Amino acid sequence: MPATVIIGTQWGDEGKGKVVDLLAADADVVVRFHGGNNAGHTLVVNGEKTVLNLVPAGVLHPGRICMLGPGVVIDPEILVGEIEALRARGYLAEDRWLRVSDQAHLILPYHRAIDNARERMRGAGSIGTTGRGIGPAYEDKMARTGIRVGDLFDEVGFREALERNVREKNAHLQGLLGEAPLAFEEILARAAAYRERLRPFVTDTGAELRAALAGGRRVLLEGAQGMMLDVDHGTYPFVTSSNCVAGAAAAGAGVPPRAIERVVGIAKAYTTRVGGGPFPTELTDALGDRLRADGDEYGATTGRPRRCGWFDAVVVRQAVVLSAVDQLALTKLDVLTGIDPLRICTAYDLAGRRLELPPAGGRAWERLTPQYEELPGWRESLAGARTLDDLPANARRYVDRLQSLVGVPAALVSIGAQRDQTIRVRALS
Ligand code: GDP
Ligand code: IMO
Ligand code: MG
Repeated sequence: MPATVIIGTQWGDEGKGKVVDLLAADADVVVRFHGGNNAGHTLVVNGEKTVLNLVPAGVLHPGRICMLGPGVVIDPEILVGEIEALRARGYLAEDRWLRVSDQAHLILPYHRAIDNARERMRGAGSIGTTGRGIGPAYEDKMARTGIRVGDLFDEVGFREALERNVREKNAHLQGLLGEAPLAFEEILARAAAYRERLRPFVTDTGAELRAALAGGRRVLLEGAQGMMLDVDHGTYPFVTSSNCVAGAAAAGAGVPPRAIERVVGIAKAYTTRVGGGPFPTELTDALGDRLRADGDEYGATTGRPRRCGWFDAVVVRQAVVLSAVDQLALTKLDVLTGIDPLRICTAYDLAGRRLELPPAGGRAWERLTPQYEELPGWRESLAGARTLDDLPANARRYVDRLQSLVGVPAALVSIGAQRDQTIRVRALS
C-alpha cells in the first residue's frame, strides 16, 4: 500500500493539521518527516483545540501509529511536554502508538541560544525565526557534529559529545555573539531526565515504516512549514532550514520515493506568512487586518501576528510543479465571506516580463509587481455547506478559478476549523 504525502503549498499554516487529522481517520501510520517544533499544527475536535508542535496530527485517533522520522529535529523538552499533555487528556494511551527515530537529531539549549542571539544581532534584517533552535540544530547535523536521539542511550558517548559541543558553542556564544555561556552539567542533567521518559518510544522508525508499507498499511507523510519556506526552493534566506517539498518526504521518513503514490497540497484560500521576507500579495491595510482578525491569523507556536494577503496562484502553482501535487485541499474559504471584490494574483510582472512561476533569485522578489484578477465576493455564510453545490455561486466561482489557475483540482474545501466543516469533493487517500 503506497504512501500519501501532505505538504503546505504557501508559507506554512495552511491548515495541514486539520487536513492530516481528517485523513488519519482512514490511515494506519502518520509520519512527520522534517522540521521540528517550529511547526504548530492546530486540530479542533469536538470544540476542543489541540496544537501539536512535534507529534503527528494522527494522534487524536486512538490506535494510529504516529512517527517522528529521521529528518525531524527534536527538542526533548518539548516532546516530553507534548506527550504528557496529550496523555493527561487521554490520548496516546499506549507507548507503541508513538515511535521516535533514533536517527533524528536533538535540539539542545545551545541551539536555541544561538538562534535567538543571531536574530537579535541581525536586527532589522532578521529572518524572524521561531527561536526554537531549528537552524543551528540542522547546521550541526550537516556539519556532522550533531547529537542524535539514539545517542542519549550511550551515556558515556553522549556525555563526551555534549561536553565537546557545549565547549565549542560557548566559545561561539561568548566570542562572536556576546552572550553568556551555558552550564554543561545542567544540560547533561536535564538530558538524563528526558532519556528515561523517551526510552519507550525510541526505535528504528524507518525499518518499522518500511515493514508497515510492505504489510499493506496506509501511511500518511505529514509535512511541516510550506513550499516557500523550503531551504532550496523558497524565498532564501527567509526560509526554514529543511526541505519542505514532497521530494523530502522519502529521505526524511526513510522510505523509497516509489513508495509515494499521492501528493496532497494544502492551500489557504488567501495567503499568510510569519516572519520576514518577500510577500508580493501582502495587504498592509485594513483589509489585511480584517483577514488577520477573521482568520485568527496568529502563530500557533509563537503567537506572532501573521502577515496576510491575497491568494497568490504563482506560489501555489510552483508548489504543484515542484511536488507533483495531485490534489489540493483548500482551506479557510469561510474567512473570505463579506470581502467584495476578491483579488487573485495570477502572475508577476518583472521589468515587463510576465512570470507564471516565481523567480529563482532573491533580488528579483523585490522588483516584482503582482498581476491581479478581480472576482465578485459573497455575503452568505458558508457554515452549512457540505457539497460544492451548497456554496454561494460566487464562492463556487472563486474555488473553480483557483483550481484552474494552479492546474489541479481541490479534493477538499474547508470552511471552518472543525472536522465536519468540510466539503469533500472527491476521495483523498
Ligand atoms: P498548519 O500549521 O498548516 O497546521 O496550520 P495552523 O494550525 O498553524 O493554522 C491554521 C489555523 O486555521 C488553525 O487555527 C486551524 O484551526 C484553522 N483552520 C483550519 N481550517 C480552517 C478553515 O477552513 N476555516 C477556518 N476559519 N479556520 C481553519
Ligand atoms: P507550520 O508547520 C509558518 C517560519 C518562521 C521564519 C522562518 C524560519 O505550522 O506551517 P525557523 O524557526 O524555522 O528557523 O524560522 O520560517 N516558519 C513557519 N511559518 N508556519 C510554520 O510551520 C513555520 N515554521 C517556520 O516564521 O519566517
Ligand atoms: Mg502552523
